[in-house]
Amino acid sequence: MKFFSKLKTATAVAGISMLMVLGQQAIAMDDPDATVKERQMVMDNVKNTVGALSKAVKSGASSDEILAAADAFLAATASSVTVEAFKTNTHGKSTVKTTATEKVWTDWDRFEQALLDMENGAKEIQLAAAGGTLTSEDQLGVALKECGFCHRSAGYRAR
Ligand code: HEC
Repeated sequence: MKFFSKLKTATAVAGISMLMVLGQQAIAMDDPDATVKERQMVMDNVKNTVGALSKAVKSGASSDEILAAADAFLAATASSVTVEAFKTNTHGKSTVKTTATEKVWTDWDRFEQALLDMENGAKEIQLAAAGGTLTSEDQLGVALKECGFCHRSAGYRAR
């Protein structure tokens, strides 16, 4: 009897914290500062995972380690994550310093395509890693060229 009432409490608590998580997401969507911070965390994760992958390839890590790093990079570039992070237009609304320019949203379709291209590049890289043929840093270029496209040529980022 006691066990069951404890179990019930645990379920109720889990239910409440789920609602809190959903609540926080709803707040983040209306809060430009939180939106910008979340987006920057997503981008930092892209940078850190590709950095770790590059290091693994360069240092001649085992194919398992390289595959794990490629998996992490692919997860970081998943368009379900990146598109979500950018889709709310925060231009001129946040007090947190952002380097995203208005062009991200005025040119949204092309911007979104660059996010998809980065994910597709990461997929190619992950396939090579899974096949044990990811042996040179140069092979990362297929995803890295999208960083340069957005950050420099396309002007989605202020410098
Ligand atoms: C579709 C365009 C796009 C692609 C592709 C892209 N970025 Fe970004 N990135 C941005 C924009 C826009 C910002 C500015 C975000 C902000 O400050 O609100 C940014 C910000 C960043 C930041 C700074 C985050 C912070 O804490 O302020 C890093 C680091 C970064 N990107 C790394 C990368 C790397 C590495 C790649 C490639 C593997 C990449 N990005 C690909 C558009 C892109």
